[in-house]
Formats: sequence, C-alpha cells, structure tokens
Amino acid sequence: MILNLEPLYSSIVENIKERVSKLPKAPKLAAVTCQPEPSTVSYLRSQEKQAKRLGIEFAVYEAPKASDLKLLLPRLSADNSVSGIFLTHPLPTDISELEAVSLISPEKDVEGRNPINLGDILYDNPTFPPCTAEAVLRIIKYLTNPSGKKISVIGRSVTVGKPLAMLLLQKGIDATVTVCHSRTKDIAEITKSSDIVVVAIGRAKALGKDYFTPGSTVIDVGINVENEEIYGDVDPSVAEICDLTPVPGGVGRITTLVLMEHTVKAAEMARRY
Ligand SMILES: NC(=O)c1ccc[n+]([C@@H]2O[C@H](COP(=O)([O-])OP(=O)(O)OC[C@H]3O[C@@H](n4cnc5c(N)ncnc54)[C@H](OP(=O)(O)O)[C@@H]3O)[C@@H](O)[C@H]2O)c1
Repeated sequence: MILNLEPLYSSIVENIKERVSKLPKAPKLAAVTCQPEPSTVSYLRSQEKQAKRLGIEFAVYEAPKASDLKLLLPRLSADNSVSGIFLTHPLPTDISELEAVSLISPEKDVEGRNPINLGDILYDNPTFPPCTAEAVLRIIKYLTNPSGKKISVIGRSVTVGKPLAMLLLQKGIDATVTVCHSRTKDIAEITKSSDIVVVAIGRAKALGKDYFTPGSTVIDVGINVENEEIYGDVDPSVAEICDLTPVPGGVGRITTLVLMEHTVKAAEMARRY
C-alpha cells in the first residue's frame, strides 16, 4: 500500500502557521546559492512558494565564488533580520562542504549541517537535525512507536543516513538500528529481517520486492530524475507487499516543511536572547 502522509503534512502546516502568527514579525529564510543549475533554480522557486504560503519571508543571495561565501555567510549569520540560512548545492569547487557549513552560525543553521548541530544529536539533544533525517523520523513516529523496532537505514550520507541512525538511537526513540552502505554484504538479509527499512542511496528503483518481507514498512528517501520523471530508490511494485511512502510527495514534501519549521524555531529562539 502507498502510505497517505497527508494528515501528518497538514498537522505540521497548521503548527507552523500558528507559531508564525505569534511572532512579532515574519521569520526570514535566506537561501544562498553559488552556481545555480536549472534544478536548483526550480527547487528554490518551490521553497519560496512554500515559505510564502506559511508566512515566512524568503530571500535569495548569490555567492558565485568561495570568497563571496566566506563574506556572505558570516554577514547573514550576524544579521538580526535573518532567522535561518539555507545553502544550496553545488558549492564552488575551492571550498569544502565542511568549511562552508561551518561559516553558518549554529543558531541559524536550519538545515542542520553545521558540525555543532550534528554533534548535538550524539548527546540526544538535537536542535536542528538535518531536515531529511528529521522528516523520516517524523514519518516513522507518525506511523508507529519506533521503540524496540528493528530499523535498517540504507545509505550513510552526512545529511540523511548517519544522522537518521543517531536520531533513531536516541533514548526515548529506542529503535535498534542497522546502517548499510555500498560495501555492505547481503543487504537483503538485513532489510528482510527489519520492521522498517529506510532507503537513501540515490539509485532509481534499485530495491525491489525481493528485498522486503511482506507487511514491513519502507520509507523511500530517493529522488532520482530520469527522462523528466521522478523516481524513488525503491521499485513502486514494493507497495504490493509493504507499506511504502510515495515518491514524489513523501519524504521530500515533509522535508521542505521541516526546513520551514526550523526557520520558525530559529526566530522563536532569537526572541529569547
Ligand atoms: N527526500 C528528500 O528530501 C531528500 C533529501 C536528500 C536526499 N534525497 C535523496 O536521497 C537519496 C540519497 O541522498 P544522499 O544525499 O544521502 O546520497 P549520497 O550522499 O550520494 O549517499 C548515498 C549513500 O548510499 C550508499 N549507496 C549507494 N549505492 C548503494 C547500494 N547499491 N547499496 C547500498 N548502499 C548504497 C552510499 O554508500 P557509500 O557511502 O559506501 O558510498 C552512500 O552512503 C538521493 O536520491 C537524494 O536525491 C532526498
């Protein structure tokens, strides 16, 4: 069955709108883009639309070179009118991801990419976890109580697989987590013995029915564009035997909302200083 995440989506939207209405002014999300590709431009347009629907101000800043980023990110971090900062890919080649995200103040790092925010997850004290990892956690908690569940996470990226595994391990969430990657032997053995499988590998329709036990839940994080169509990492036929999140309209849609929610949280936190 394809899972219906609409009630979760609507409840997050309502919560954001209510919190925005209590702020003295609209929170502002600053999107920083370096050398935007057509896909980045259309992504930014859809983020802007979503932000406006929720009462969040959205502004785009261009920083084509590493030297521009090194000036802009600290400037936006110090700007009291900016609540959150969001940095799009691709980055200039002469600055590493770690160097770039470290230039964003942790209080405005609404994507959860700064090492301080990532480190807080290890202490079971996340403020801004990476948006996609948090979106997956929200979906799992919406569907079931993860405590004691066997959950496998396929993919170990800094923004999805690794932080998600740490979020699921937190005290109070209490899942039993296995992380797989491209060198893992016999992934099917692990996925078949899991109650929930999260797939974030970036390979269109890579995992078919032979990877899953009927009745298990599969969260498909993948967004792969082929011939102008969007495909997940899981073959859609898996929905015949498992509960499967939709692509598009599943994890990606909740992820965008989590980014907006983090922006509101950053604005709320800034008021307390
Ligand atoms: N829905 C959303 O909001 C959202 C957000 C972010 C990403 N995504 C999508 O999620 C997918 C993953 O993104 P990402 O940023 O995490 O990708 P990434 O940085 O490329 O990482 C992919 C991970 O998958 C592993 N992997 C690749 N092929 C594999 C295979 N055949 N079997 C097992 N593991 C394999 C890699 O292993 P190694 O480490 O060994 O190389 C790596 O850890 C992409 O489709 C991306 O577009 C969606």
